Formats: sequence, structure tokens, C-alpha cells
Amino acid sequence: MILVTGGAGFIGANFVLDWLAQSDEPVVNLDKLTYAGNRANLADLGANPRHIFVQGDIGDTALLARLLAEHRPRAIINFAAESHVDRSIHGPGDFIQTNVVGTFHLLESVRAYWGALAGDEKAAFRFLHVSTDEVYGSLAPDAPAFTEEHRVEPNSPYSASKAASDHLVRAWHHTYGLPVLTTNCSNNYGPFHFPEKLIPLMIVNALAGKPLPVYGDGLQVRDWLYVKDHCSAIRRVLDAGRLGETYNVGGWNEKPNIEIVHTVCALLDELRPRADGQGYAIQITTVQDRPGHDRRYAIDARKLERELGWKPAETFESGIRKTVEWYLAHPDWVSNVQSGAYREWIAAQYVEPAKAA
Ligand code: NAD
Ligand code: TYD
Repeated sequence: MILVTGGAGFIGANFVLDWLAQSDEPVVNLDKLTYAGNRANLADLGANPRHIFVQGDIGDTALLARLLAEHRPRAIINFAAESHVDRSIHGPGDFIQTNVVGTFHLLESVRAYWGALAGDEKAAFRFLHVSTDEVYGSLAPDAPAFTEEHRVEPNSPYSASKAASDHLVRAWHHTYGLPVLTTNCSNNYGPFHFPEKLIPLMIVNALAGKPLPVYGDGLQVRDWLYVKDHCSAIRRVLDAGRLGETYNVGGWNEKPNIEIVHTVCALLDELRPRADGQGYAIQITTVQDRPGHDRRYAIDARKLERELGWKPAETFESGIRKTVEWYLAHPDWVSNVQSGAYREWIAAQYVEPAKAA
């Protein structure tokens, strides 16, 4: 079996659902269930006996020792993290705790487990660390996309904490020989994306008749990948990646934020038009920019394509349509995640924007 951490979050839940749909191999899913973790993301599994959910922290070494001894996974896939840049600016402490200290404890627990394996079990074992393109910093408008050789230059507390975890993973390979793999992926979008991030926030705010808050000039560029393509890349790297290597994951879909927002509005205009006949774009509002806002990310994923033959299945156009359709079909999921804690975050983050609107 495999052990997934953070499998009740956005990407982890998509990964677990896809894994169990395609493989007979059971999954132990260790998730702390922070505000971003949601068991409803896994509801489609019902009481699937191949899914063992455990609520807990990747920093809890006693729990990890017990889980590893009991389930003897052949691989760990580490999704667990604090993942939202704006939250990392408001309060970086949790990011250091989970992304850095938590990853350290996880690595140490896994090292002890792996060290006691023997023969084929030891040779086949893998630790796959899921990371982000944000560790590379910000690109100038005409600079080539990030390759795996690009300098690590994180600019936000989030990206700095992820870069730190990537370094730990690398060091545990070089020093202790732990069989690790690292993936650095561009911005994901798709089902179960928590509506604090750009695309789901725009969809839920548009439908609720609220302002669509675009930071600064809206010309910051992100490189977007449909979440299920990220999951297929992780499966491919787990199967065939070279030990100790880093693989960039992306689909060559660079877009300025303002274009993303207009695309979401146009899809909603088509699929769920406003009652007054006006376009959703009239809800777009410019708000104060994010401090230290990275201007551009772009991922060069040719190594993954060349070495492992991976390619994304979705174009941006097909993926964003599926995403908007998913949110329209799941109003209960949306209202469930918009709990009291969610409303407090939105009020704190968009207090000025709301006035500006
Ligand atoms: P998310 O915030 O939606 O989910 C994170 C999950 O981790 C949640 O279920 C949460 O409960 C869990 N978690 C948090 N702290 C934990 C802890 N200490 N112990 C156990 N579980 C804990 O994040 P996501 O968007 O699904 O991202 C998953 C991973 O992918 C992260 O490592 C992130 O850095 C990386 N990543 C995300 C993107 C993206 O666009 N979302 C892109 C590239 C890489
Ligand atoms: P986000 O989804 O938070 O991902 P990241 O910061 O990790 O790339 O933001 C994507 C882009 O959208 C980023 O440039 C910030 C911008 N943004 C807005 O303009 N308005 C918003 O309300 C949010 C949440 C993000």
C-alpha cells in the first residue's frame, strides 16, 4: 500500500480518488484536517475498505512510527502543507511548523522505517515530495520558463517554507540515501479547490453577486495545470522517476490573472447567466496588491516529458470548463466549506477591497 499525507486537501483528495479508481493498491491517508482539509472531498469513496483515513499531524513521530509499522507502505507521497500565500503573509508561523518542521519529522520517521527494511522492499521504497514552482521566485516578462536548474529564490513565507522542505528532502537523499523524488508543479485548478484561491474564489463570488477582487493591475502571470494532470504526473514520477531527481510539472498555460477572471466570467455568462442579463465581468474590482507579489511563474516541464513520457490530458480551455461546471454542480460542497472560519478569513483579507468596491 501507499501512504499519502494531506489527502483531504485539494490536490491530495484528487490524487486519492484517482488512485483508488485506477489501482487496487490501498491508501493510508494521513491528514490533520486543518481549515483546508475536508472529509467531504473524499465522500465519493463511501466506506471503501482500500481507503484508511487517519486524522493526524505529519509532525507526530509516534503516530507515524505506528502507522508505518502497521501498514508497511511501499511509498509515501507528501502533499501535507500550509498552501496559501496570502495566509502565509498574515501568519507565517504555521507554514514553518508544518512545511519545514513537519517535513523534517516526517523524513526522520520515514528514514527510521526505511532503514529497517531489507532486500526488495527496501530497494522499491520511495518518498515523493510534492512541491511548487513558487520556490524558483519570480520571472521577468521575457525570461525562459523555470527549469529544474533554475536558482531557488523564494519570495513569500509560503514559498520559502516549501523551498526549505525541498532542501531537507534533497539532503536526506544525499546524506542518508533515502530514496526520494521531488515534483515542482505550477498552479493547479479543478474540483475541490478551496475558494480562497483565485479561480474558485472568482467562481463562488461571481455566483454570490460579490466583487471579484483582482490584486493590483491583474497582469501577474501564473502557469495553470488541471489538477488531474498533476496527479497523473505524480503517479508517473513515482513509477519511473530517477532517485534524488526533481521534476517540474506544468502544461505551458501561462495566463495573466485578469484573463483568467474574464474567462471564468465568460463561462458563467454561458452556463449560468446573471438574472439581470449583464455579464459577470461587471463584478470585477481592482484591490490593493499582495505585498511582495511574484510577477510571473512559468514551468518548463520538458524533463518530465523527455524522461518519463508524461503529457497533460487537458488544455486550459477544457480544464477550466470542467472546473466551472463542477462548481455549478456542487453548491452544497461550496456552502459546506464556507464555514465560520472561512468567512472570518475573507473578512480579514478583503476588508479594504470590500470598501473599494
Ligand atoms: P491544501 O491547502 O488544499 O491541502 C493541504 C492539506 O494538508 C489539507 O488537507 C490539510 O488538512 C493538510 N495538512 C496541513 N497541515 C498538515 C499537517 N501538519 N499534518 C497533516 N496534514 C496537514 O493544499 P493543496 O493545494 O492541495 O496542495 C497540496 C500540496 O501541493 C502542497 O504541498 C502544496 O505546496 C503543493 N502544491 C500546490 C499547488 C497548488 O496550486 N495548489 C501547486 C504546486 C504544489
Ligand atoms: P492564488 O490562487 O492565491 O495562488 P498563488 O498565489 O499561489 O499563485 O493566486 C493566484 C494569482 O491570483 C496570484 O497572482 C494572486 C492573484 N489573486 C487575485 O488577484 N485576487 C485574489 O483574490 C486571489 C486569491 C489571488
